[in-house]
Amino acid sequence: MSEILVQGYHSLKGELEIQGSKNAALPMMAAAVLHKGTTVLNYVPRIQDVFCMMGILESMGCVCTMEGHRLTIDAGCLTDVRIPEKNGKAMRSSIVLLGALLGRSGEAYAHYPGGCSIGSRPIDMHLDALEKLGAVFREEEGIIHAQTMRLKGSTISFDYPSVGATENVLLAAAGAEGITVLKGAAREPEIAALCGMLQAMGAEIWGTGTDCLMIHGTRRYKDVVRDVPGDRIVTGTYLSAVMAAGGEGVFKRSSPKDLDCVVKTMEKAGAHIRILDDVLEVKMKGRPKAISVETNPYPGFPTDLQSMMMVLLAIGDGRGCLKETVFEGRFATAKELHKMGAGIIIEGKEACITGQKSLTGARVQACDLRGGAALVIAGLAAEGETVITECHHILRGYEDICRDLRCLGAVIRREA
Ligand code: UD1
Repeated sequence: MSEILVQGYHSLKGELEIQGSKNAALPMMAAAVLHKGTTVLNYVPRIQDVFCMMGILESMGCVCTMEGHRLTIDAGCLTDVRIPEKNGKAMRSSIVLLGALLGRSGEAYAHYPGGCSIGSRPIDMHLDALEKLGAVFREEEGIIHAQTMRLKGSTISFDYPSVGATENVLLAAAGAEGITVLKGAAREPEIAALCGMLQAMGAEIWGTGTDCLMIHGTRRYKDVVRDVPGDRIVTGTYLSAVMAAGGEGVFKRSSPKDLDCVVKTMEKAGAHIRILDDVLEVKMKGRPKAISVETNPYPGFPTDLQSMMMVLLAIGDGRGCLKETVFEGRFATAKELHKMGAGIIIEGKEACITGQKSLTGARVQACDLRGGAALVIAGLAAEGETVITECHHILRGYEDICRDLRCLGAVIRREA
């Protein structure tokens, strides 16, 4: 199993271009299924989850061609509506194919999806919403069979702004007859990217960026060429890396307009940040300040950067606090950080963190995608060598975290 080895205590200085967003690229790939033609996506990150989604699309009859970061999907010959078990379970995002397949073919077979083990991740909201649009579900031996004569627009209200369920409704409604109104929709920037793509393909959508979306479906889609936005979570990861190690970094294609809350939080923690168009510059001297941070759906502080914040507070000057309100199991990284000398006490949804002057290099295990990246950052701030095992989690979402951090001057390498 591959490992990442980090030598800590080297301050960072450098520049890099941020990869395309995983959480935008995956639903955009699913949207391509609605169209009996060709879709081209630029800036697609070369990560495991994208390759996994390509595998699913190919198994259903689509032709996918990846040249560099340009992905062409020809969904003209979609012949199969079964999401294969192995790939479907490997990745939570496979569930958004339900809405797309129902919109395109009126039928889909799926297994319960997988992804990171960061607490319970049910799909009740997805299924309830698709039912409202006219899908009928049967479950046999763990396989969900969804069917409809034709989806019909409806009014749906979410009590909680689920990102994936919002995407599923958008994809299904884009292929449905009539108008769908979704109240209580998630407002994550990746949803706006999906709305933009569906509009370019021919669906009419009102309310992009708000919690109330109105979608007028169509059956006449156009070939489109779309750019996947820069990954705001990857930007936040490398921003945290500079803050942990000290130094400076310049990040291009960093989606700074989607990072408002993160930028404000990191400034409170002591970072000096400058934004110019899509470029974000950060400078950091000394230890991070101890602050309190609560994760929330967008535009709040993203749960995907909670583990990185935990690392910053673990080396912070004083006692800080983290409250996780989105995924209950997202404190798993704390156990690994303890091995490096961190002072973290978890009580329910809250972590109380007493900052240490320094962490100590240790052998630690990546428990999930973002937690794994956070351990790499902890290694940058630790004395000696840190070895991160189970790195396959990190590969699901980062093209090459070692290459990127080396661009910033880190001493880091991966061993197979
Ligand atoms: C997406 C992101 C993930 C991010 C998360 C929250 C992708 C591929 N993943 O995940 O990186 O951390 O948004 O910003 O885009 N819930 C239910 N029932 C449902 C659906 C969700 O109870 O049917 C709950 C979940 O258990 C969780 C919360 O709602 O506690 C948020 O989940 P959701 O917004 O759906 O996250 P994902 O789409 O899975």
